Amino acid sequence: MTPHSSSRPILAGDPHFHYQNGVLHAEGVALDTLAAQLGTPLYVYSRAALRQAWQSYSDAIGSRPVLVCYGMKANSNLAVLKEFARLGAGFDIVSGGELKRVLAAGGDPSKVVFSGVGKQPWEIRDALLAGVKCFNAESQAELHCLSDVALSMGRRARVSLRVNPDVDAHTHPYISTGLKENKFGIAIESALDAYRLAASLPGLEVVGVDCHIGSQLTDISPYFDALEKLLDLIEQLDAAGISIQHLDLGGGLGIRYTDEIPPSPKALLDRVFDRLQARGMAHLHLILEPGRSLVGNAGVLLTTVQYLKHAEARNFAIVDAAMNDLLRPALYDAYHGLQPVSPRDGTPTEYDVVGPICESADWLARQRKLTLQAGDVLALESAGAYAMTMASNYNTRTRAAEVMVDGQRHYVVRERETLDDLLRGESTLP
Ligand code: LLP
Repeated sequence: MTPHSSSRPILAGDPHFHYQNGVLHAEGVALDTLAAQLGTPLYVYSRAALRQAWQSYSDAIGSRPVLVCYGMKANSNLAVLKEFARLGAGFDIVSGGELKRVLAAGGDPSKVVFSGVGKQPWEIRDALLAGVKCFNAESQAELHCLSDVALSMGRRARVSLRVNPDVDAHTHPYISTGLKENKFGIAIESALDAYRLAASLPGLEVVGVDCHIGSQLTDISPYFDALEKLLDLIEQLDAAGISIQHLDLGGGLGIRYTDEIPPSPKALLDRVFDRLQARGMAHLHLILEPGRSLVGNAGVLLTTVQYLKHAEARNFAIVDAAMNDLLRPALYDAYHGLQPVSPRDGTPTEYDVVGPICESADWLARQRKLTLQAGDVLALESAGAYAMTMASNYNTRTRAAEVMVDGQRHYVVRERETLDDLLRGESTLP
């Protein structure tokens, strides 16, 4: 099929982004029109795609006791958070700033888990005041701090320990977190001691066991390597008189960027519950913290070709988006599908698609066969997760606007930053 055929979904396969009459649409909205109205670079999300991703979790869960805490670092736009809050999601936060966003979006703080290796006292206080469900503590030093802050407020903090099970998640080294050499969690060998400490501290109430082994997992076996170790630990804790109410398996399910076939939430959950049953631990409540798999393929980044440059070794399409808008290619060598919004006829040329930033790492896609002219709008796929949330102002570039499409309508859910926004707060010396 050529990109011109009607109703063809884009490469990453989310059916809510598809060609209609030769133009890429998000649901019922033509993306060439959106780009003309709102300018580029522009992030476009599909509300129906978010809902469908959520549905794949809720269908998989059925009536089983599972709380999905959306790993909001993947995409923390208030409209996205509000959508998940309405659907009943909890949230996995890693900062006081993320807590503020959850509260601003009307999220339920009693469904919030607070992860991260470096929680500061003010963040812990804000979270206790809000009444979060649980702190996922990552070190003995943090346990002391949690207990002290809670006591100073006359409260007790509910805690899980993030255990590092030393399993290889077979993913990119920068997003693998469950190995001994990673900074995350408490080594499984020291976990029992750390739990004894937690149980002895007056400001703490031990409620759970937590782990997160990595992101963009396309194979579920590492989850089960981790699960057996965590269940062994829960048995030991039980024997030590420390009873555990919930098990948090973190996030990590991958998405399709090219030809990956990621495991479904159902495949994961069915096997987890089989194991809980088999080991006599069916009483445990489960928490999952998916980020990417809820939002990754629900967004594209639109960008306009500024110049075509035919150099000796390569052809470059220089576009108006850059590594400050979408860092994943530069940082992880990540692949994002790329489609012209209105494909043209003609013999394709191989292009590297690059931004205007003064870094050789400023590329978005490499060696793609495209038929292009300056002014064409391109869509970078799978840009719903770890895209806008990792954007920066490098080279004094304003951050892109974000739009949510809902059927035939669209809503600007974040205005484009202005240059005045960027200079605000700076001053020169007298
Ligand atoms: N829970 C914890 C404790 C995490 O650290 C993460 C992600 C998640 C949940 C959500 O994981 P997910 O379901 O999205 O895989 N910037 C990288 C990904 C970093 C992931 C960091 N932690 C990327 O662009 O690929």
